[in-house]
Amino acid sequence: MDRRQFLSGLAVAGLTTACATSSKKSSGGAPSTAAQPVETAVPTTPSTPLPDGIFSLGVASGDPTDSAVVLWTRLASAATTPDGGPPTGDVQVAFDVARDEAFKELVASDIAVARPDLGHSIHVDVTNLDPDSWYFYRFRVDGQTSPVGRTRTFPAPSAKADHFRFIFASCQDYQWGTYVLWKHAAAENPDAVVFLGDYIYELSLGDLSPAQDGSRVWASPPPTDLATYRARYAQTKSDPHLQAAHAAAPWIITFDDHEVANNYAGDVGQGDVDQPRSRDRRLAAYQAFYEHQPIRVTPEPDSFESLELQRSLRFGTLADLAVIETRQYADAPACRTDASLISDEGPSCAALEDPKRTNLGAAQESWLADTIAASKGTWFVLCNPVMFASINTGTAEAPTYTRDVWDGYPAARQRVIDAITTAKVPNPVVVTGDWHASFVNDVAASAGGPTVMPEFVGSSISTVIFGTDYRAANPHIRYFLGEHCYASVTVTPKSFTCAYVYVENIWDENADQPHRHVVGHRRFPRGHAGLNGHGHGRQPGPAKV
Ligand SMILES: [Fe+2]
Repeated sequence: MDRRQFLSGLAVAGLTTACATSSKKSSGGAPSTAAQPVETAVPTTPSTPLPDGIFSLGVASGDPTDSAVVLWTRLASAATTPDGGPPTGDVQVAFDVARDEAFKELVASDIAVARPDLGHSIHVDVTNLDPDSWYFYRFRVDGQTSPVGRTRTFPAPSAKADHFRFIFASCQDYQWGTYVLWKHAAAENPDAVVFLGDYIYELSLGDLSPAQDGSRVWASPPPTDLATYRARYAQTKSDPHLQAAHAAAPWIITFDDHEVANNYAGDVGQGDVDQPRSRDRRLAAYQAFYEHQPIRVTPEPDSFESLELQRSLRFGTLADLAVIETRQYADAPACRTDASLISDEGPSCAALEDPKRTNLGAAQESWLADTIAASKGTWFVLCNPVMFASINTGTAEAPTYTRDVWDGYPAARQRVIDAITTAKVPNPVVVTGDWHASFVNDVAASAGGPTVMPEFVGSSISTVIFGTDYRAANPHIRYFLGEHCYASVTVTPKSFTCAYVYVENIWDENADQPHRHVVGHRRFPRGHAGLNGHGHGRQPGPAKV
């Protein structure tokens, strides 16, 4: 389906005002060393018995360092009701971290408090762990024990690592198909999962299943407040394949637009044209996002006026990762007209080129420049929600561009590119979500200039596929695949290999033997890629294996 045609058919959701904030800090965290035997923590029994299935949303971990990882769960027994079936007051929950799946070698066991003002979610930052090590974890409360999750720490910053395997993915609308791809991703036992946005979707499209069996229909109305955003996460997280992927490895997560609403920018919703009217809805959405994701926010937020998602991670000397988001502080897409409002697609215009326009915001942009300058890893991986390279979605004679991605902020994009070239980052790569198809692009230092870095764009797990192949008008697109897929990356000191993994039919949960398209990219021999002219186009092209 054509991207623009599909978007033009979407209804713009209405707005209501509701916002919840929290004021207390969770007891969370439990540093521990293995020097002394660790005693199993015993939580206080709740005054009111909890309903069965209190861990129905599963467990997750995220934001690994060389000594810490965040563990997550949320107490909710009825995933498809707006309040998630939680208890009413504070609830003590025990957590255990062990080296073995049987929990005989405990390294941490303590109590966290699940509070109603954060939806009875729990974020525990477990510290003092060994570097480059795998662990198992679980939660316990009122006689119930959660599923067991597996997580890991990254190697020490100065340690050499010979490989790093991560999945990256985006766009998982519960309505559009099963999450069978997460089953395959979990089976790969990656070191980490990078999720680049659109974890939930806000639109209700009815029953899209081929069998018309109602199996993937939203049980809640289009979200506009905290309760309805919580309901979207709860239903999304009820899927067993998604839970398996969370339980398999730590996740590194950012958001895109559909965690709030299509093509929003700051307080400007798409239906607002350019009038900021969507603040309360956005803050409710950010709170629900935080409550459902294993992300480290220090201190735990007591307000959702902003949610700082930019962060860097280091996998030994092999790879530095920088995670960004491009919606929260973004100027509204430029040059909106009645015709382009829904898709934010159209020809370039003078306002688009304004150097003051930003999608990162000044603070995040400054942080990113500093992070790029400080990168010392063999590889620098920019984890980026939306298309970075310029893509002409029209023709050579009448070019058009998508204005809610980096093409809508060309001066800001150039500043990121300049930061990379100035710092002479030896092997930069950008991994991207959002487009609902897979691309490998050459990112140019400037229009018509040498290649600075490759961009690997992942497809969607389960949204509509936008299968238009733009290669004819865009020779810098080196590869295109219009399938639902996740990307499986193997990083070594000499190569960055990306496999696009897909199945024939995402409605078939029993699908096995997924297809893999492997795209290789070798390390640049010396110096900066763009300056030395070693574009990844010199490397072997995609090969079906
Ligand atoms: Fe998406």
